[in-house]
Amino acid sequence: MFDPRSIPADQSAIDALRGQGLDYRQVDHDDEAALLAWVQAETRGFHHARPEAPELRRSLQVARQRNVRAVYDPTAHDAAVPVATVDGWPSGLSVPGGRSVDAWAVSGVTVSPTHRRRGIARALLEAQLRYAREAGAALAMLTLTEATIYGRYGFGPAASAATVVVDRRRVRWIGPESPGRVQFVEPADLIAKAPAIARRAVSRTPGEIDRWPGFLERHLGLFDPESAGSRAIRVARYDDASGQPQGFVAYTISREPNVPGVVECDLLVAASDDAERALWRFLVEQDFVTEVRARLRSVDEPLPWLLEDPRAASMHDIVDHLWLRVLDPVVALSAREYGASGTLTLEVTDPLGHASGGFVLDVSGDGRAEVRRTDEARSGEVPDAPGSASRSGRRSRAQAAHGLRLDVRELGSVYLGGVRPSVLARAGRIEELSPGSVALADRLFAAPRTPHLSIWF
Ligand SMILES: CC(C)(COP(=O)(O)OP(=O)(O)OC[C@H]1O[C@@H](n2cnc3c(N)ncnc32)[C@H](O)[C@@H]1OP(=O)(O)O)[C@@H](O)C(=O)NCCC(=O)NCCS
Repeated sequence: MFDPRSIPADQSAIDALRGQGLDYRQVDHDDEAALLAWVQAETRGFHHARPEAPELRRSLQVARQRNVRAVYDPTAHDAAVPVATVDGWPSGLSVPGGRSVDAWAVSGVTVSPTHRRRGIARALLEAQLRYAREAGAALAMLTLTEATIYGRYGFGPAASAATVVVDRRRVRWIGPESPGRVQFVEPADLIAKAPAIARRAVSRTPGEIDRWPGFLERHLGLFDPESAGSRAIRVARYDDASGQPQGFVAYTISREPNVPGVVECDLLVAASDDAERALWRFLVEQDFVTEVRARLRSVDEPLPWLLEDPRAASMHDIVDHLWLRVLDPVVALSAREYGASGTLTLEVTDPLGHASGGFVLDVSGDGRAEVRRTDEARSGEVPDAPGSASRSGRRSRAQAAHGLRLDVRELGSVYLGGVRPSVLARAGRIEELSPGSVALADRLFAAPRTPHLSIWF
């Protein structure tokens, strides 16, 4: 496994910030005081309260695994506290077809309000993209606070998420019975099995990323088990008919005396459709509650179809949750499966240069693609026509191939199948190079399952 801490600090970022009297460097993972100062700066940067000791311990444990970078101002009142933070780490990203592609997660991007709009975030982000390439990542990815920040670095919104709100009083279940059983388990008992269940759940949903050390412990309240927040967390597990765990849900119920509560759910992990249905049913059929609120759910939940009154479940706060930035189009496009066969040329522009060029996507009947740069195709020839028997044959350029011209941001948006190329073409953000190309792109990039990311990172 590639160690993200092994990458030396990016020289372009060092030079760019030195010009402003600022010091960009790697935070030493063995220097606890420096890491703590980084965590405090990041927490302040996101406008959170100072973290309590257990949260600090958790953050330290996580930061130690990552590429942690900071910017210091030697003239500041407390020069040991960074004026800007960022971290990154390699992570798999699930793509249509069930594979995982090597990607690079970026997080913790903050610049102190005392140092804003001097180009610090730009230096941090551009360096992270170079680290990602050094780590061999085909894409960079992030979740973000504001949708106006990251397009300039080539990121595009790729998977949405929503809060599902269920009116408990209108719930009447009409879905199938799941053959297994749901039972309460203590978080400490679940933790041994939870990562394996989560891995299977992640692999069946494009857009989900590998979890990181401590993620499940945090959501199950295990970092701070005696705090009021952790003691409020209840956990239920679904086991299939043969007794194999296939999913779990962690939730709390807000509770005033003599008033029905509200179920708050931030983690519903299902490795099978049965598990998903059974856990939803468990949540929405609870007595003495008025409402169930589940955050970061798919915009394509099957839940309304499981209820007699589909309007009992409504979708709120739909956001562009996962943003992707393609760095290596050949590797990224080769990793996923496609919804149809055909040949499509992509002319990609990338102001930062990582992904620019022409690419031929040649998808065969099994949905797998052969991808190559157009300059690797023999001159005067283009790849086989859609449906032709041989991949190796060529036809003349007179029979123009289907093609699109698009920016790397749009490539990131269509990559998982969460945004249809035709929508971006209607918005003038994808240019069709020959008639029928957008329709073909819609068919190719369609994914059997709507992409979804169920966590913040
Ligand atoms: C977002 C943030 C990191 C930007 O830092 P910064 O150092 O001021 O940004 P830069 O000076 O490098 O700006 C780079 C570009 O981004 C733009 N930009 C920066 N922040 C922006 C924002 N919040 N909204 C829109 N544009 C923004 C700048 O105008 C500049 O544009 P240009 O390329 O056209 O010149 C900083 O405002 C911050 O810490 N915000 C609070 C925490 C946060 O939201 N972090 C993002 C986490 S996902």
